[in-house]
Amino acid sequence: MINIKALAALTVLGLVNAQDSISFGPAFSLGPTQSWIREANTTLVLPETPSPQKDRLALWPGMGTSGGDLIQALAVSFSDPSANCGASSGQWCVWASTLQGTQLGGKQVPASAGDKVVMHYKYNDSTSKYDQTVILNGETVSTLSTSSGQAQGWGTAVEAQDDEINCSVAKHQYLDTTIILDSADSTFAGTLGLTNADSTGLESSDSKTFTVDTININAHTF
Ligand SMILES: *[C@@H]1O[C@H](CO)[C@@H](O)[C@H](O)[C@H]1NC(C)=O
Ligand SMILES: *[C@@H]1O[C@H](CO)[C@@H](O)[C@H](O)[C@H]1NC(C)=O
Ligand SMILES: *[C@@H]1O[C@H](CO)[C@@H](O)[C@H](O)[C@H]1NC(C)=O
Repeated sequence: MINIKALAALTVLGLVNAQDSISFGPAFSLGPTQSWIREANTTLVLPETPSPQKDRLALWPGMGTSGGDLIQALAVSFSDPSANCGASSGQWCVWASTLQGTQLGGKQVPASAGDKVVMHYKYNDSTSKYDQTVILNGETVSTLSTSSGQAQGWGTAVEAQDDEINCSVAKHQYLDTTIILDSADSTFAGTLGLTNADSTGLESSDSKTFTVDTININAHTF
């Protein structure tokens, strides 16, 4: 099934080179902004991995950039978790990552259902790069800095690749999301797109800093 809203959101996120074998599920997405995103922070609460674990199912909050990159810290369920990050069956691999033609990445580490994974992106004025930090249950586990231009949108994704057909992804949440623009953009809130997802509401008092307490991504079967 083709979901027009989801496709529009993914175009914003810069996913223009999607292969045939890739498909997308529910999403919460914002953008493009008429300004640019300086900083974004969210906490993904990991659900159970799909069972059986096939190759590959990814959860990520991403930012499409003016440089054509996709800044996307990842939580991925692999058919062979131990071969990818030393994870046990039923675990995820999480890491900082940017799709920049090739997939660049920081250290990959195992994570379990119920774990809280902070995925923080911040533009660094002294390097003109985005610094990514992935924090698992309070500990920094993976970092990456990339020259990516300026981020134009932010959104969550449920992405299935390769043989992830007939695969059920459990509902999950993103907590304490904050998105900070470079300057106020009164049009930004109106770009919100929801596909099989909802939230406690996007809030801002100055159209520059936006917060969402809880984003609920519904269960989905590919
Ligand atoms: C990102 O969010 C987490 C969870 O709310 C918080 O603990 C952390 O301090 C935040 N990091 C930054 C740099 O704002
Ligand atoms: C910007 O990047 C430099 C080099 O990685 C780092 O030393 C510095 O702490 C960063 N600045 C901030 C504000 O994080
Ligand atoms: C999908 O999975 C269910 C449960 O394992 C199974 O009953 C069904 O036949 C599968 N459908 C397809 C098209 O593979």
